[in-house]
Amino acid sequence: MNLKIAKLAGDGIGPEVINEAVKVCNAVAKKFNHKIIWNDGLIGADAIDRVGDPYPQKTHEICLESDAILFGAIGDPKFDNNPNAEVRPEQGLLSMRKKLGLYANIRPTFTFDSLIENSPLKKEIISGTNLIFVRELTGGIYFGKKGRTNKNMSAYDTCNYSKDEIVRLAKIGFDLASKRSKKLCCVDKANVMETSRLWRETIQSMEKDYPEIEVSYEFVDAVAMRLIQWPTNYDVLITENLFGDILTDEASVISGSMGLMPSASIGKKTSLYEPIHGSYPEAAGKNIANPLATILSAAMMFENSFNLKEEAQVIKDSVTNSLDKKIVTRDILKDKSYTTSQVGDWIVSKI
Ligand code: IPM
Ligand code: MG
Repeated sequence: MNLKIAKLAGDGIGPEVINEAVKVCNAVAKKFNHKIIWNDGLIGADAIDRVGDPYPQKTHEICLESDAILFGAIGDPKFDNNPNAEVRPEQGLLSMRKKLGLYANIRPTFTFDSLIENSPLKKEIISGTNLIFVRELTGGIYFGKKGRTNKNMSAYDTCNYSKDEIVRLAKIGFDLASKRSKKLCCVDKANVMETSRLWRETIQSMEKDYPEIEVSYEFVDAVAMRLIQWPTNYDVLITENLFGDILTDEASVISGSMGLMPSASIGKKTSLYEPIHGSYPEAAGKNIANPLATILSAAMMFENSFNLKEEAQVIKDSVTNSLDKKIVTRDILKDKSYTTSQVGDWIVSKI
């Protein structure tokens, strides 16, 4: 099979972790007789520095022409500390999500037996966790009207959702739940927010189409608490953009390292695969970042975009194997750790 993949490395540790994922993809392609055509695109601070635009039109075209997108990370502290910056790297990511119509972000959280002691949470609490967040990604407060008023003394961000946006996301949640434990939790703040009440009433009206799914509705503050108290109680959770952003970072702690969890963003056009961690600028260029989240994102890509399940499984097995054998970066093991490229090379050798 010919696989056309857009490769957007981005900022910070992005290029290093993407590099390892590319090596792994190429090894899988060789093993299973596929041909991968990689197309590089600029994004984030890197793209601002080079062409003045965090998501250049050229990159958008590359994404549209590809079968899938593998993405590293964006963000640079030089922009974070400057509230007056006119363009920010994050705008690149947001505009890519919007222009590609990537309305659903699928973020799993699971544990690895060999890493169970790595989580700051007790092993009896997290053992067996296997949940998936479906986060709305192109609406809500991220994209609502925002601005300053009162001579810059006040600021506002608005949160909007249409029924259509909720329905298309909820369908993904219901479908996922029907393939898993048939439990769907809808996370909102319906005791306070009007948009949340629309979410709740919309999803309630869809329940009749999925009689086998047990749907629960929980407030986001309570979920923030229960997620680390009883993570095994959850299976598929669906929520709006901002709540999903916050809860998925929280959930990543369960797995033991932020450097482990992959994600997929799907929608109207090409799907995108990326690690859930950010650009980790302090580690950039040091060959210490954990490449596993990006490598597992590549596995999600083989499975979801190409329907190549065996290829995906080979990658997942090799990652589990590397964790069992403690071929890991230093976020996981302080002493006797391996570098980013050594971990990648080891996984390639197993494939
Ligand atoms: C994420 C990130 C982004 C978000 C940032 C970088 C804009 O935190 O993908 O979760 O807030 O969505
Ligand atoms: Mg986030």
